[in-house]
Amino acid sequence: MKAFNIALTGLILFIITSCRLNPLPQKYTVLSPDGKIHISVEIIKGQVFYSASKDSMPIIDKSRLGFEFKNMAPLGNKVSIMNIESGTFNETWEQPWGERRLVENRYDELTVFLRERNGLKRSFNIIFRVFNDGFGFRYEIPGRETIDSLVIMKEMTEFVMAGNHYAWSIPACKDRFYESLYRKSLLSEISDTVCTPLTMETARGSYIAIHEANLTDYAAMNLYCIDSSTLACDLTPWSTGEKVMGKTPFVTPWRTVIITDSPGELITSYLILNLNEPSKIHDVSWIKPGKYVGIWWGMHLGLYTWSQGPRHGATTSNTKKYIDFAAANNMSGVLVEGWNRGWDGDWTQHGDSFSFTEPYPDFDIEEITRYAAEKETRLIGHHETGGAVTNYENQLEEAFRLYQKSGVNAVKTGYVNSLLDNKERHSSQYGVRHYRKVIETAARYHIMVDIHEPVMPTGLQRTYPNLMTQEGVRGQEWDAWSTDGGNPPDHTTIIPFTRGLAGPMDFTPGTFNFSNPVQPGTRVQTTLAKQLALYVVLYSPLQMASDLPENYINNKAFDFIRMVPADWEETRIPDARIGDYVITARKDRNSEDWYVGAITDENQREIMLDLSFLLPDKNYLALIFKDGKLADWKDNPTDFNYSEQRVNSSQQLLLKLASGGGQAIRFTILSSP
Ligand code: NOJ
Ligand code: CA
Repeated sequence: MKAFNIALTGLILFIITSCRLNPLPQKYTVLSPDGKIHISVEIIKGQVFYSASKDSMPIIDKSRLGFEFKNMAPLGNKVSIMNIESGTFNETWEQPWGERRLVENRYDELTVFLRERNGLKRSFNIIFRVFNDGFGFRYEIPGRETIDSLVIMKEMTEFVMAGNHYAWSIPACKDRFYESLYRKSLLSEISDTVCTPLTMETARGSYIAIHEANLTDYAAMNLYCIDSSTLACDLTPWSTGEKVMGKTPFVTPWRTVIITDSPGELITSYLILNLNEPSKIHDVSWIKPGKYVGIWWGMHLGLYTWSQGPRHGATTSNTKKYIDFAAANNMSGVLVEGWNRGWDGDWTQHGDSFSFTEPYPDFDIEEITRYAAEKETRLIGHHETGGAVTNYENQLEEAFRLYQKSGVNAVKTGYVNSLLDNKERHSSQYGVRHYRKVIETAARYHIMVDIHEPVMPTGLQRTYPNLMTQEGVRGQEWDAWSTDGGNPPDHTTIIPFTRGLAGPMDFTPGTFNFSNPVQPGTRVQTTLAKQLALYVVLYSPLQMASDLPENYINNKAFDFIRMVPADWEETRIPDARIGDYVITARKDRNSEDWYVGAITDENQREIMLDLSFLLPDKNYLALIFKDGKLADWKDNPTDFNYSEQRVNSSQQLLLKLASGGGQAIRFTILSSP
C-alpha cells in the first residue's frame, strides 16, 4: 500500500552557465523565491567565502568555506570558480506523520564548481539552496581523479554573524547526551564549544537558528566562537582526533540557517526536513504515531527496579496491569524497561552483558504480547545498550526478529555511557554510523524507533519515517533524580526554539503527582495544567503519559491526555517569546478539532488568544483545562479547573497562566451557525 504521495507542483529548471574561454566572474548571488534573502559566493585572493542578507540587512558577513585534511593540503584557499549551475524547485510533499501534513519545498539553487588554480588542481562544489525562511549549503567532492579517500581534520565553515547576538546554547560533548539547561548569553560570552541548533535573537528582533540537515556518515557539527560574532564549525572527533573518514564521491550534511521575523516561525520552518531526502520506506502503513504509558517512572522514582529482585518492575502481572490501563485510555503502547538480562549490577559499566533476546524469568514475553494483542495495544520494546554498541550490533537482527515475531512494532533504545564502546563519542562519525544502522535494521523489521542518548536529530525522519522521536534533551526524568531541583519553569519555554528545531522530542510529560520520594528537594516545576499543555507545545509522534497509572485514575485532567492526538494536520504559533511563554495551536490530522497548549515560565501572565485559526463559519465548543485561581508551580501545582465555552473564530480568549503554569484547550465543532 502506498500511504503517502509526493505532490509535485513545480519542476526543477536548471540554467547552466558555462564559459570556459573567458574567465568567469568570481562572485555570484542567489535569491530566495520571494527575493528577500540574498546569498553571495565569492573568491577573494583565492579563498572561497559566502555571505547572507535579508531585506538588505546583513545576516552573515563574509565567511570562509573549505577543509583541512590529514596528509593532504587544505582545500578552499587557492581556488577559482570554474562554472555555476542555478535553478528553481517547487514541490509540495506529504508527511506520513508530523507537525504538518503537507510541506512546501520551494527554493532557488546555486551550485558553484571550484577548482584549485595550481598543484593538484583538485575540484569541489558547494551547493546552496535558498528558501523564504533561510538557506542551506553543502560541500560535494566529486573527483576520484584528484582525491580518492580523505580524512577531514577540520571543516573550515564559518558563520560570521552580523552582530554580537543573544543566543541560547548548551555545551557540546562536555555535558552528556545534550541533557543540559540552555543558557541565554551574548555570543561574546560563550566560552565553550556549543551544540547546534544554536538559536539567536538579533537586536532588530530577527531570529536565526544554525543547525544541519541529513547527517549521514559524517560527524555532528558543533560551533565555537572565534570572536564576538564569528562561529566556527567544530566537528565531533573520533578518539584518534580525526573528524571524518570518507571516499569520493563525497557529500557533507547540509549546513542550515533558518532566518525568521518571529520566534514562532522558527518552529513552523520545515527547511531542515526539506533538505533531507524523500522516504526510503515505501510502505509506511505500519508506521503509526501514538501515545504510550510505561513501567518506567516507577524505576526513576525508586519504586521499582530494572534489575531482578523483590521490586522488579518488568513482571508479567505488572505489565498486564499497564496493558489494561493503556487499552482503557486510548494509549497505543506500553513501554517496559528492565525486561531482559543484563540489568543486574552496574549496567552502565557492563553494557556488554545485555542480552536483547533473553527475557528475565518473570517476564513472559509470549503471554504478554498475546495479551496486548487481545487488548488491541502493543508492547513497546526496550534496548538499553549501556553504550556497548558492538554488543548490540552483534544481536541486532535477532533482537528485531524477536520483536517482529511478537508483534512489537516500536522500540526505545538507550546509550547511557559517556562513550560508545568505551571509546567514541555519541555524536562522532562512529556514533552516526551506528544509529543509522539501527534505524535501517528496524525499518526492515517494520519497527519504529525512539532513540535516547542519540546524536542530535537532523531531520532524518523524512527519509526514515520509522525514526519517530528521540531524547537528546533534558527531559522530565531529570525531575526525578537531578540534584539541582529539577527542570526550572522556563526550560520548556526554551526547548521548542532550540532542540525542538532538530526534530521530535521524547520529553515524557504527564506528571500528576508532584511529590518525589527519591529527591524530596527535586520535583516537576510546573502546575498540573502546564503538564497537559506540554502535549501540544512539545511535539512528539510517540507521546508518553509518564506518571504511574494510579495517579491518573479519577482525575479530570487525564481526559485531556486521553484525547490529545499525536499527529497533526497543521501547526501554528499564535504568540511566543523564547524563555518566557509559548502558545501552540495544532489541528488534528484525523478530525476538524484544534488543540491549543499555552505555557509560561515562572511568571504568571495573561495572554489574549485570537481564535482566527478556527473555521470562520462554525461554532466550536472549547474544552478548557486551566490553572485554578490559586495555582502556582511551587506551592499549589494541582489547583486545576475545567470549563466549557462556546466560541467562534471571531473571538479572543483570555488565557490566565499561573506561575509555572499553562492551559490546554480542545476546540471541537458544534454546528454551523
Ligand atoms: C536513559 C533514558 O533516557 C531513560 O528514559 C531510561 O529509563 C534509562 N536510560 C534506562 O534505559
Ligand atoms: Ca536520558
